[in-house]
Amino acid sequence: MKKIVTVIGARPQFIKSGILSKELMKEFKEVLVHTGQHYDKNMSDIFFEEMGIKKPDYNLGVGSGTHATQTAAMMIGIENVLLKENPDAVLLYGDTNSTLAAAVTAAKLQIPIFHVEAGVRANVFDMPEEQNRIVTDHLSTILFAPTTLALENLNKENLGDKSINTGDVMYDSLLYYSNIAERKNRNEYMKELKPLFDSKVNINGDYCLATCHRPENTDDKNKFVEIVSALNELGMPVIFAAHPRIRNLVNEFHEQYGNIIFVQPLSYYETLFFTKHAKYVVTDSGGLHKEAFLHGVPCVSILRNGWEETLQNNWNEFVRPNKEMILSSIRNRKISYDSNRDAFGDGQSCKKITSEIVKYFDKEDLLCNS
Ligand code: UD1
Repeated sequence: MKKIVTVIGARPQFIKSGILSKELMKEFKEVLVHTGQHYDKNMSDIFFEEMGIKKPDYNLGVGSGTHATQTAAMMIGIENVLLKENPDAVLLYGDTNSTLAAAVTAAKLQIPIFHVEAGVRANVFDMPEEQNRIVTDHLSTILFAPTTLALENLNKENLGDKSINTGDVMYDSLLYYSNIAERKNRNEYMKELKPLFDSKVNINGDYCLATCHRPENTDDKNKFVEIVSALNELGMPVIFAAHPRIRNLVNEFHEQYGNIIFVQPLSYYETLFFTKHAKYVVTDSGGLHKEAFLHGVPCVSILRNGWEETLQNNWNEFVRPNKEMILSSIRNRKISYDSNRDAFGDGQSCKKITSEIVKYFDKEDLLCNS
């Protein structure tokens, strides 16, 4: 049986790996490496427990640091694992520092790389994720594009011959886990959230779900204040799931914004549930604005650019961290609620990726034996 080493490290990668592993493990031996980029319980363990993801075979425990410190430590750890495991390929997801570290390390050891979520481009080159995805795509052996647009991007960069549009594994995951998440009702979820916040607001009707963690929106306190001031004036309660990097900001400001309920990062089931039932989502997360679109919930993305597919029929808008722009995006937008939202495939992306990997190894074996 062929052996694949999968490298993950950040929250969205646990989700993607959780769903794809179910298919991969039918055909291959998968060795799971967690770099330790995300390490808080709510950022890491909770996903493994809730989604029934197998325990990582290795946890490199890299933790936080500057980009170079973090990436370099990951590369050393990953190289040790790859030398020991001697896999037939390495499988990577998305655009985090964990992805970049594994791509560079595997390429230098001449190990084939499969990149899931390839070809995504924001054309914002000072964004670490954009740098990570470009390098990873160009070092990869097979590129699994999640959408037609991503495939077009890869064609433009002369990577089309190695690329396949398989649809998005996040959509597979959303379909699979939403069913499970829906078995609980709002009261049960609220009861679980209750100990996480000191709520002054009672959520019975409409609410907005918000997240904000990007350095470009949170390193400058004024920008964060613009964002929370807008949220506070929405005229409905806001559940704000706070990434650990903004803990200090939340501690400093939470009392001034009575309509916002600041909570710890949500689990995956909680995220699915509260996104699906939200009136609006306001976020700077690359994953959440896509999930809002897939659920059919209007979204304001405080990002310079992101999944352009979500802009169809005004489901999503990209705005600056500016109070008036955020409020106007919510108040003045016309959305055709019955419009098509099929840009991310048919929910069968994990099966397609697995079968493409099987084909790749069959071809390689034929070449070796001829
Ligand atoms: C990373 C990804 C980003 C993704 C996000 C999802 C990169 C370059 N970015 O950003 O694309 O949207 O994950 O959540 O890889 N921290 C903790 N506990 C944790 C994790 C982080 O306290 O468990 C704090 C640390 O102060 C750390 C900071 O958050 O320095 C940033 O973490 P890092 O993993 O570098 O990037 P994210 O902002 O989470």
